[in-house]
Amino acid sequence: MAYSDKVIDHYENPRNVGGFEAADAGVGTGMVGAPACGDVMKLQIKVNPATGVIEDARFKTYGCGSAIASSSLVTEWVKGKTLDQALAIKNTQIAEELALPPVKIHCSILAEDAIKAAVSDYRAKLGEAVEHPACAP
Ligand code: FES
Ligand code: FES
Repeated sequence: MAYSDKVIDHYENPRNVGGFEAADAGVGTGMVGAPACGDVMKLQIKVNPATGVIEDARFKTYGCGSAIASSSLVTEWVKGKTLDQALAIKNTQIAEELALPPVKIHCSILAEDAIKAAVSDYRAKLGEAVEHPACAP
């Protein structure tokens, strides 16, 4: 299977690798795993509490090239976004940007799930209600 140029670029030059101190105020941590392949992705956001805007993001991914590229891409995308804007990022957008083949779609789902988990963690730390579509009245 051939990887797209964008996957290879993010894989070879991953953006925003690393982490923040998870206990710090303003940091949200999302850790998700893909049952299908056992790959694991940790994605962290640093939020400006005054504006609610994500100012920085980091990731660590133990996984395939597509998972690394997906997490690298979303750390770029979430910077400068509000939490709600970050929650609106869909795995289909990630898959399209990276031209992922069907067998690699779950790798982009991992990245979407990781953002959602990081936002939920940040909101939970703030004591805000965690929004979940399935629970909406
Ligand atoms: Fe599982 Fe890519 S093969 S995350
Ligand atoms: Fe997910 Fe309620 S928190 S269904």
